[in-house]
Amino acid sequence: MKKPFSLAILTASTLWLAAAAEPAITLTIDTGKPGPKISPVMWGVFFEDINFGADGGLYAELVKNRSFEFPNGLMAWSQIERGGAAGSLEIRDQEPFHTANPHYLRIRVDNAGAGFGVSNEGFHGMGLREGATYNFSAQARTVEGGPRTLRVELVTSDGRTIASAKLDGLTGQWKKLSTTLRVGATEAKARLNVIVEGRGALDLDWVSLFPAQTWKNRPNGLRADLVRMLADLKPGFMRFPGGCIVEGRDLGKRYQWKTTIGAPEERRLIINRWNDEFKHRPAPDYFQSFGLGFYEFFLLCEDIGAEPLPILNCGMACQFNSGELAPLDQLDPYIQDALDLIEFANGSATSTWGAKRAAMGHPAPFNMKLLGVGNEQWGPQYIERYAAFAKALKAKHPEIKLVSSAGPSPADDRFNFLWPQLRELKADIVDEHCYARPDWFLDNAARYDKYDRSGPKVFMGEYAAQSVKTVSPDNRNNWECALAEAAYMIGLERNADVVVMSSYAPLFGHVDGWQWTPNLIWCDNLSVYGTPSYYVQQMFSRNRGDVLLPAQISGQPEADGKSRLYATASRDATAGDIILKVVNATAQPVWVAVQLQGVSQLKTGATATVLASANLSDETSLSEPKKVAPVRRPFNETNVSFNCQFRAHSLAVLRLPPAQ
Ligand code: AHR
Repeated sequence: MKKPFSLAILTASTLWLAAAAEPAITLTIDTGKPGPKISPVMWGVFFEDINFGADGGLYAELVKNRSFEFPNGLMAWSQIERGGAAGSLEIRDQEPFHTANPHYLRIRVDNAGAGFGVSNEGFHGMGLREGATYNFSAQARTVEGGPRTLRVELVTSDGRTIASAKLDGLTGQWKKLSTTLRVGATEAKARLNVIVEGRGALDLDWVSLFPAQTWKNRPNGLRADLVRMLADLKPGFMRFPGGCIVEGRDLGKRYQWKTTIGAPEERRLIINRWNDEFKHRPAPDYFQSFGLGFYEFFLLCEDIGAEPLPILNCGMACQFNSGELAPLDQLDPYIQDALDLIEFANGSATSTWGAKRAAMGHPAPFNMKLLGVGNEQWGPQYIERYAAFAKALKAKHPEIKLVSSAGPSPADDRFNFLWPQLRELKADIVDEHCYARPDWFLDNAARYDKYDRSGPKVFMGEYAAQSVKTVSPDNRNNWECALAEAAYMIGLERNADVVVMSSYAPLFGHVDGWQWTPNLIWCDNLSVYGTPSYYVQQMFSRNRGDVLLPAQISGQPEADGKSRLYATASRDATAGDIILKVVNATAQPVWVAVQLQGVSQLKTGATATVLASANLSDETSLSEPKKVAPVRRPFNETNVSFNCQFRAHSLAVLRLPPAQ
């Protein structure tokens, strides 16, 4: 009789169960017959500037439209007139501070009263913390001997000043003014006021406010709490900058990496395609400043130990929009961008593009190994363009693995057209996308069991279970969706000889500024929380084995005539642990007789991590961030055969250290 172990005890309320009768279900793991290797980049993250994921999200700049480059130059800014003050605001472009950002604000004060100036609303307000310091800076010049002093204030949404400072020394030339502000109270929706002291005119540009404590305290930095969430996933790779944003609605609005590097003021702002993509969720103030640009993406990847996977435009605008094509005989600049990117990332500090990287502070190469050609493209037009890219890139950089597109759906005419073509072209890695109802993920966990082992590898590059339907604003990040993704991920891992990478999408959503739902991580201006899907990703990523072990379930329980117990086994080469992942997607606890073949005994120190929740509709939130979160406990088992109960609707990861 095997000893019983109930993973149900991992919930507070459930007690040990009496020893069950010999379970009808057996899970046999043959540790003596290691299978294929599991890719070190199996579980990664997909970053796109959607839902205010970059400006107003990960990028820590708090001032919106800091350079007055939005088409409505005063968007996000309002006039302040206190105590009889009067004056005017004008957007100008004569003798700008920087030609890449040609617009600036002229403030003319006719009557100083108790204060004339401007106020910036931030991105859905500005999140400020009591006791923290914030770095303010601006470019300014007086006009015709006008005012030489500015007052800067940080104010709460109800108008209380929680920090202020004076800046003087303005001259007739553009000059950077800066000061540090210590904030007296926490406020999620603060504003920044800039008040002119005295009468006359002055010019203002590049008005910036950053927390001093960005990730690694870098200037032009990232929100530390959001990066921490990424780092805690231990992602194998990071795909950036998207997503459809790579493509642009038309080619003029495509993502061009070269315009996102160098000094931030050299980067040209463009409209974000998600600004008004969904008429039911217009932003309408969503632009890309590129303050978070390609250099910062590479740095972030390095910081969190993720392989960089940039995706480049391949001469095709978004096919859901204009579908504009760069003619084949005009593709060279696009291909050259890819070649130059490889040099920017990997070239020596003396090469043309490597020198730009070095000048930004990173002389050592980033050692990029992966590159995506196009995002979610389809049709013969894509194949022609991919082939041209692949020919040129492989000729010069055979060491770079190329990611190609299988279109927006995991099974449609576009997909069925692309795959054979890409196989023919001997593509390295094909990027499949899937947004579908939870049942699809449960039903398709065996999808890759039948894939051709000799063709291109698969990157499950965008996926997420949709509780209602794709692009519905009513989709919820609930436990049902996360559990279905977990079952599907068991199938990805079990097919690690074909599937080499995967990433949930999208990554971030701002609770006040989202266009798309569901998302892996949600935030407001001060806080962040992981969804149940986040914890699923984390459990897989932090328990990635190096090699698969054969795992066989017999006597499957059935729900609606379908098998709903999913399992994989692997071995962690460093720790030596046998890692068992089990998803019980049935509504009943399931007893399983686990048999480890090829080992005689386990050492003490085994652990079990369980993610489960009472209801499939359960979600996490800003107020209940850990409502659905994994619980890790010791697993007191040293026998290689044991009975174990898996809780209803649960994901469990057992780490079992073999004795020998
Ligand atoms: O993840 C959101 C969008 O879904 C991506 O931008 C696009 O690639 C897909 O259609």
